Amino acid sequence: MKPSYPQHIAVIMDGNGRWAKKQGKKRTQGHKEGAKIVRDITQWCAEKGIPYLTLYAFSTENWKRPKIEVDFLMKLLEKYLHDEKPVYMKNHIRFRVIGDISVFNTRLKNAILELEHATQNHTKLTQILALNYGSRDEIARTFIKLAHTLTPHTLASLTSQDIISMINANLDTATLPDVDMLIRTGGEKRISNFMLWQASYAELFFTPTLFPSFGKNELNAMLEEFLQRQRRFGGIE
Ligand code: FPP
Repeated sequence: MKPSYPQHIAVIMDGNGRWAKKQGKKRTQGHKEGAKIVRDITQWCAEKGIPYLTLYAFSTENWKRPKIEVDFLMKLLEKYLHDEKPVYMKNHIRFRVIGDISVFNTRLKNAILELEHATQNHTKLTQILALNYGSRDEIARTFIKLAHTLTPHTLASLTSQDIISMINANLDTATLPDVDMLIRTGGEKRISNFMLWQASYAELFFTPTLFPSFGKNELNAMLEEFLQRQRRFGGIE
């Protein structure tokens, strides 16, 4: 079969703080520059016909950062959703969120829900922001949902394949395809609690480029490499 571009790219956007430090700027300036790349990378993926792009914008562990940085990220996110709405509308980008947004302030929650609603019929590319997202938290929330629906009797009749399907159907990513390409910028080679279930067979790409310096040429080179990789999903051919 002819190799094809990934259906679902996921990106760990790391290196904003280091980018800012190198420029003699505050860490928050790095996040501001990162937000511009969020817009660009969405456009580049849409141009390539990639249907799904998930971006790790705030993890369940990021609350450990200084309050001033967390507050900045929340405000930046709200501003981004407001400023970018015309771009989603013009380019027919669908916006979705994964993660537990129940803890966010009402204004931010409303901005998220409003943009998800306004773009729900868009078909060009679905951009998914992972917000207050962690794989373990997502799996734990899924477990709680399922535990409420299962009796010992029904559980006894289920195969592990049935359970896998039920987990898939109850994760935040329920209607999304598995991740087939996972990119991490910023030089670290780890997954950091991101899409652990969904990226089981993803091709991994690690680059030292700091996220605010990530560009179209590098993405295109990774996509070309993706086409060269042999994907066997545990089989032999
Ligand atoms: C990691 O870099 C980045 C984050 C924790 C936040 C990601 C946020 C953005 C890219 C911008 C905001 C996004 C939107 C959608 C408005 P780091 O701060 O850990 O960098 P470092 O490893 O160099 O310190």
